Amino acid sequence: MTPRVALVTGAGGGIGSQVALALAGAGFAVAVNDVDAAAAERSVAQVLAAGGAARAWLADVSDSTAVDAMVQGIERDQGPLAMLVNNAGNPGRFSLLVDMSDELWANTLKVHLDGAFFLLRACARRMLARRWGRIVNIASLAGVHGTVGSGEYGAAKAGLINLTKTAAKELGPHGITVNAIAPGMVATPVNRELQAKGSKFIDAALQGMPAARLVEPAQIAALVAFLAGDAAANVNGVTIPVDGGAAVSMTTDAYMLGQLSARSAFLKEI
Ligand SMILES: NC(=O)c1ccc[n+]([C@@H]2O[C@H](COP(=O)([O-])OP(=O)(O)OC[C@H]3O[C@@H](n4cnc5c(N)ncnc54)[C@H](O)[C@@H]3O)[C@@H](O)[C@H]2O)c1
Repeated sequence: MTPRVALVTGAGGGIGSQVALALAGAGFAVAVNDVDAAAAERSVAQVLAAGGAARAWLADVSDSTAVDAMVQGIERDQGPLAMLVNNAGNPGRFSLLVDMSDELWANTLKVHLDGAFFLLRACARRMLARRWGRIVNIASLAGVHGTVGSGEYGAAKAGLINLTKTAAKELGPHGITVNAIAPGMVATPVNRELQAKGSKFIDAALQGMPAARLVEPAQIAALVAFLAGDAAANVNGVTIPVDGGAAVSMTTDAYMLGQLSARSAFLKEI
């Protein structure tokens, strides 16, 4: 039988590596994309060790030519793409809007929004012909509410949420569902390290969460696996928050406003 293939972008990272593992567990052969070769290979090894099938694909998601070549290569070498998880992204470099450089704005949108569009277009073209597909976009709470210090990131993620809705309408009639997940603060290795160092930013986030615990990457991965299955066939065009209830109180906003205002070059001059 031809394996069903799931492409996970940024699959060498904290959330992506868990998504790769969960989808392999759900029976997909995984195409592990990343720009970081070592991270991608670590993730592939993790899937293989768990008895799954995976292969690494190095490509920058913001390069549409590289994306098209990768998608073509995956179908040639691994089989037909049934699922796409748009997960690749850079951690934000916190900045107030008034201090933000053109470069930070453009780079963030390029990876988080252009990249997701290039992947969605390339995969949907193939899924359409087979009248079946699952696309999951990893957005963020920042894209739903806006968050102080992450204006460019929130705008990119809000764009991704809107793209999810349009794609769901255009592709839904052809048996393809498109949904987004909006995580709050996730216990990735980077965030765990910050927490261990007593980060006040993480403390502020925890204060705003009724659940008072960071989201586990495996919880995001389990939701992706659910959206991949037949039970989710009628879930389409929605953004599902996984945030421990953080949406009710954005305590990081007050903290970041204090921190970033104190070091704002622009605010010092007025
Ligand atoms: N960590 C959180 O708290 C959190 C919260 C909400 C949303 N998210 C989103 O979840 C996704 C994954 O985040 P993470 O915390 O696992 O980050 P991470 O840094 O651990 O992993 C991201 C991976 O993406 C890769 N990557 C970066 N730019 C790329 C590019 N241009 N092309 C291909 N790969 C690229 C990186 O090399 C890395 O392996 C991101 O889209 C992020 O915005 C994270």
